[in-house]
Amino acid sequence: MKKIILLLSVALATACGKSAIDTEKIASLASEQCRIMEQVLPEGTMPRTFENGKLVTSDLRWWCAGFYPGICWYTCKLGGDTKELALNQTERLMDVEKLSQDHDIGFQVMPSVAHAYRETGDSKYLPVLEEGATRLAARFSPVVGATMSWNWEGRFPVIVDNLINLELLTYASKLFDRPEWKEIAVTHAWTTLRNHFREDYSCYHLVDFDPEDGSVKEKVTHQGYTDDSSWARGQSWALYGFTMMYRETGVPEFLVHAENVASFLLSKLKDRPIPNWDYDAPQQADDASAAAIMASAFLELSQYATDRKTSDMYWNQAEVILRELSSDKYLCKEGEYAGFLLKHSVGHYAIGNEVDVPLLYADYYFLEALYRWKTLRSR
Ligand code: GLY
Repeated sequence: MKKIILLLSVALATACGKSAIDTEKIASLASEQCRIMEQVLPEGTMPRTFENGKLVTSDLRWWCAGFYPGICWYTCKLGGDTKELALNQTERLMDVEKLSQDHDIGFQVMPSVAHAYRETGDSKYLPVLEEGATRLAARFSPVVGATMSWNWEGRFPVIVDNLINLELLTYASKLFDRPEWKEIAVTHAWTTLRNHFREDYSCYHLVDFDPEDGSVKEKVTHQGYTDDSSWARGQSWALYGFTMMYRETGVPEFLVHAENVASFLLSKLKDRPIPNWDYDAPQQADDASAAAIMASAFLELSQYATDRKTSDMYWNQAEVILRELSSDKYLCKEGEYAGFLLKHSVGHYAIGNEVDVPLLYADYYFLEALYRWKTLRSR
């Protein structure tokens, strides 16, 4: 029955001239792309982007090292045949010593090792999650009320992206019965809520705290157009982070905050499905990664919205984004771009780094959003 409804909605969208969200077709494309990626990936590296006709790779310390295994996991959950590949690629992240030495450990092990544990139940993944959470928790300062993002000597930078890593703490808190890890995550989220946001619920990228007394020294937007502008991916991390933290903790203020961020985003997007890399920048460059993260968050938020109309509004916005990302403009063709899925993302525009390129996290959150769209839609 579910399959018939899916086929009907694909046919209806096509008849209305809209791109269809065809999860089966995308899962099959993603399976092929994952395998191509495996073939072209030099040993010991992870994919990062595709620039000037070539695959660009990273080492395992790069914050994105967990996304390729995560992409294989979501492809498999969407019906693709990438389980073996997902298992093999996850295996490469089993030594925490070789991974990120800052807050990004959460970005690395949640899409890969946590995914593997959820899918297989194999206890061999547990020590990696425990060690990762231990290291992240050790970055917490009770004076600042947050975990430190980057290792800046004598300073205490906290970026809005860091919200996403809190899921490692809440997840591990349940797995290992460590309530203090959840407390750290909740405190960090409150500190971010109070310090990173402006009156209109847009946010700064980075707040630098004084490690001695916890006072705010500086608020900047490192990866955006100006310090006071709204860097698109940062706003998406905010929406995703507070939605996830509401799920993980039930703190009602986190839901209210996610809804306020959602209102800001809806007012900025207007009819544009894929945001500019910074909502305030005059230079135009779509950021598919900001769109994919936002779509995934909107789908989850639609499940928590208190009234039907608001819930539908979030769901519809996510659909608009997913339809656009599923169109030929954004979706790579089989064999293209060394196995990436989506074109047109922006890493760090301000320094001319990774502009209008495929990025691994765009693919990961796109697949996550498709999975949420497919599994949550009938509720
Ligand atoms: N977490 C880094 C970024 O979003 O670019």
